[in-house]
Amino acid sequence: PRVVVLISGTGSNLQALIDAIAAGSLKAEIPLVISNRSKVFGLERADKAGIPTKVLALKPYTTAGKSRTQYDADLAQLIVAAKPDLVVLAGFMHILSPAFLDQFPTTPLINLHPALPGQFDGARAIERAFEAYQKGEIKHTGVMVHRVIQEVDGGEPLLVEQVEIKPEDDLAALQERIHSVEHVLLVRGAALVLEQEAAKKSNSTSA
Ligand code: GRF
Repeated sequence: PRVVVLISGTGSNLQALIDAIAAGSLKAEIPLVISNRSKVFGLERADKAGIPTKVLALKPYTTAGKSRTQYDADLAQLIVAAKPDLVVLAGFMHILSPAFLDQFPTTPLINLHPALPGQFDGARAIERAFEAYQKGEIKHTGVMVHRVIQEVDGGEPLLVEQVEIKPEDDLAALQERIHSVEHVLLVRGAALVLEQEAAKKSNSTSA
């Protein structure tokens, strides 16, 4: 199965997918990595793994007076051209519009979010969880992999894992603990969705 991965930064989650495929534990290939930012380490990781990359930045659209809708349409076209069986948002820092999602009526899209369902949706989730812990508002946080739907970080969770916060943690310690959980959860989430899709196909053909 063909997994297209969207990134915006370091790409440690992309690396987890690359390593799982190389180790044979994730039966898939990554035909394309798309980043909305150039010069991010995630692109180097893809290059090192021999994976084609594309950068589609939003800024040139806004400076050219083009709309966000146009950006989303071009992004969707890039992805569709790679014929994905699954699209993974691995730290992709854009909210995808309904028009974008309409381009993928049958292709599953999953997103990794470093918080528990319904908590700290949107950006800076780890920092906000850390602040909430300092204020005694939460005892722990978590990571989830969910299907992407119109509502930001609102898709049905596929996998959820709690992550403890320790009194002696500084933000970096919590981030490190969360990222190590992300790397495992995202690979498991991709495998789970690919299995679900394969089961659907085999049911439909056998039916
Ligand atoms: C991860 O915490 C991801 O959940 C969040 O941004 C970070 C991306 O990390 N959206 P990386 O680029 O995969 O290292």
